[in-house]
Amino acid sequence: MKTILTTSAREAAEFIRRGGTVAFPTETVYGLGANVFDEKAVAKIFAAKRRPNDNPLIAHVGNFGQIESLVSEITPSAQKFIEAFFPAPLTLVLPKAERVPFSATANLETIGVRMPKNDSALEFLRQCETPLVAPSANLSGRPSPTTWQAVYEDLNGRIDCILQGAAATEIGLESTVVDCTANAPLVLRAGAITLEDLQKIVPDTLIYQVSKDEQPKSPGLKHRHYSPRARVILISDLKFRVSNGSAYIGLNEPYEKFDLIKICQSVKDYAHEFFNFFRECDRRHIKRIYCETVEEKGIGLALMDRLKRAAVSGTLSP
Ligand code: TXA
Ligand code: MG
Repeated sequence: MKTILTTSAREAAEFIRRGGTVAFPTETVYGLGANVFDEKAVAKIFAAKRRPNDNPLIAHVGNFGQIESLVSEITPSAQKFIEAFFPAPLTLVLPKAERVPFSATANLETIGVRMPKNDSALEFLRQCETPLVAPSANLSGRPSPTTWQAVYEDLNGRIDCILQGAAATEIGLESTVVDCTANAPLVLRAGAITLEDLQKIVPDTLIYQVSKDEQPKSPGLKHRHYSPRARVILISDLKFRVSNGSAYIGLNEPYEKFDLIKICQSVKDYAHEFFNFFRECDRRHIKRIYCETVEEKGIGLALMDRLKRAAVSGTLSP
């Protein structure tokens, strides 16, 4: 299949209307979109990404009215979050409407809904005139794409179209996912809308922790994620020896020499840069990526979540 590159939301929306797949920028990462109500189009997303079919997709809306076409109920906590945040890097899990095919939700009775806070995404969604399911536009397991070039690297020839954004996506890591079906909202995946932000609106919001013998609530949590080909090693102490083929990303200057170094100005900047840095390391055949750990609060919680998943196992002493 030939993948068309375009900067025209109208041209890209034509592919959606014909039942195709289109990668598009959002404020978090690029998404791979298809019409949520078109089962054949939804199936194309799983095939293109090589995504396990037990991992549900997030539905994206361009206006508030579309939320009602996707869910059977907007729970009180969800209503509060919608009013406080939407459009935002925030996905709310709600009971799904009957119309929504089970292929989109991986057989769950719930669906994740999000309204992206990005002009290109909103313009594209408006042109499509339907909500779109959109996982991150990478091959399953690879680092999420923050530029159209990263999408191209993974999916050229596998999808119909890439809507090209001018710059890297603003936030650089995926949305916060909150289950709003129970009494107390549960954060299933940390993101730029932080626990602290959510608790200001609904004080009993909790972070979901998977216990060892329980099935995770968010099926995506059990899959291997965000991995570059290089080995990812988390470090909190910067005094250690490195061998050739090593790279470093963090807030502080390391003592040793590395083949590739990225010093970030803030935790926010670190969150914005690390997926792209992982891909850069792969292009340069780096073998080990040392990532400095950060405090697990604010967006630092989301960053540490992604770094831990990318690492072979927790914090290692090098
Ligand atoms: O920022 C984002 O959320 C990006 C952009 C494109 O919007 N999308 C994204 O999608 O990251 P994806 O498919 O890569 O991650 C979706 C996550 C997975 O961990 C999945 O298991 C969880 O959301 N999820 C989706 N629907 C769910 C549901 N009904 N119940 C629980 N978890 C759900
Ligand atoms: Mg993903």
